Amino acid sequence: MKIGLLGHGVVGGGVTEITDSCKVRKVRRLEVTKILVKDEWELTDPRCTQNAEEILNDPEIEVIAECMGGIEPAHTFAARALESGKHVVTSNKKMFATCAAELLGLAKENGVSVRYEAAVGGGIPWMSNLERTERLEPVTSFRGIFNGTTNYIISRMEETGAPFAEHLAEAQSLGYAERNPVDDIDGHDVRYKTALTALKAFHTIVNPDEIPVMGIRTISPGDLAWAKEHQMAVRLFGYGKAGKDAVTLWVMPVMISAKEVFANIQSNFNAIESESKTLGKAVFVGQGAGALPTAHAVVQDLLDIYEEKDPRVGELVNLPVVNSEEKWQFYIRTAVPAFFAEIAAEQEGNVVFTRELSIQEMFELLKECGDESVFAAVVMK
Ligand SMILES: NC(=O)c1ccc[n+]([C@@H]2O[C@H](COP(=O)([O-])OP(=O)(O)OC[C@H]3O[C@@H](n4cnc5c(N)ncnc54)[C@H](OP(=O)(O)O)[C@@H]3O)[C@@H](O)[C@H]2O)c1
Repeated sequence: MKIGLLGHGVVGGGVTEITDSCKVRKVRRLEVTKILVKDEWELTDPRCTQNAEEILNDPEIEVIAECMGGIEPAHTFAARALESGKHVVTSNKKMFATCAAELLGLAKENGVSVRYEAAVGGGIPWMSNLERTERLEPVTSFRGIFNGTTNYIISRMEETGAPFAEHLAEAQSLGYAERNPVDDIDGHDVRYKTALTALKAFHTIVNPDEIPVMGIRTISPGDLAWAKEHQMAVRLFGYGKAGKDAVTLWVMPVMISAKEVFANIQSNFNAIESESKTLGKAVFVGQGAGALPTAHAVVQDLLDIYEEKDPRVGELVNLPVVNSEEKWQFYIRTAVPAFFAEIAAEQEGNVVFTRELSIQEMFELLKECGDESVFAAVVMK
């Protein structure tokens, strides 16, 4: 099966490393014949080209593996590939979470598939486990750590007691965080992954912008110490719950019991839990990023296409995101505790422990409070 690879950076480089060296017979059949690169200095392999048309118009190429990142031109290339009857595999959560409805529609119209295991929880694997669960029964909820960079920063802060900025710089120097780390630390990366998990688990197309998000930019060593004193740990969570006519979806730090598996996930690992009727709760732990774990997921998708294992893509719906029904208590550390007096169950200095509120109410208050240094977490004891 001939493959056109778009992008030859961390993930794309991992894909050729696996496909070029693997001795497994079936993987030897996956032949990357052309590779799209951007710059002249990257033309290091005879398969490389700077001209996307050479790949998109090659009738022998059956599958496009998109590992470029960004929305454009990744989206246009993926759409054109599907329109011309090529399958698409992508590791690009931002592009796919934003364009899933259109691309899945094109795949259906053209009798090809689009797969995105590497886009969420890369090396776990998460998407294919959800597929297995939901072919038997509906997935009712999911929650967990979807972002390795922020988990690395939080777990290092727990170890050393040093501030956020110090461990962000360390994560950048180790290549875990990008030079512009906004998508990771402000939770947008988890937002895309939460939208894609809802797509796979609940069959609903969700615009990622509808998912309320708070990242870890304002986390302090004091917040982690408070959690530890109360036998809890802080983690950044993506959360989803299926309802009859709506879905609950949010991204926010949580304080979770120190006994829970999530509290013990260190470094840049991911841990995500699904829940369904007969399987109950199942937690999947693994590397959510990195060249080879992510490339492994891309190659698994390529193998599934080679073996014609197409997942059942049932009817997709457009359920609204509603975050007003479930109620939680929240931890808030703020310079303006008096602003939160009405919702306080307890207050200790600048820490407010709230009565039960919905995520929607909490996000409205956080927006109104005017404190840019505020840190809040859902308490999930
Ligand atoms: N790295 C991970 O661990 C990881 C894990 C899961 C998912 N992902 C996702 O996988 C995708 C790729 O990530 P990555 O880490 O491999 O990024 P990367 O190292 O920056 O690689 C992307 C490559 O694609 C090239 N590229 C971008 N636009 C192009 C264009 N128009 N034509 C040709 N080449 C182009 C880039 O060139 P320039 O550098 O010159 O722009 C770069 O070499 C992203 O969507 C990312 O979110 C990554």
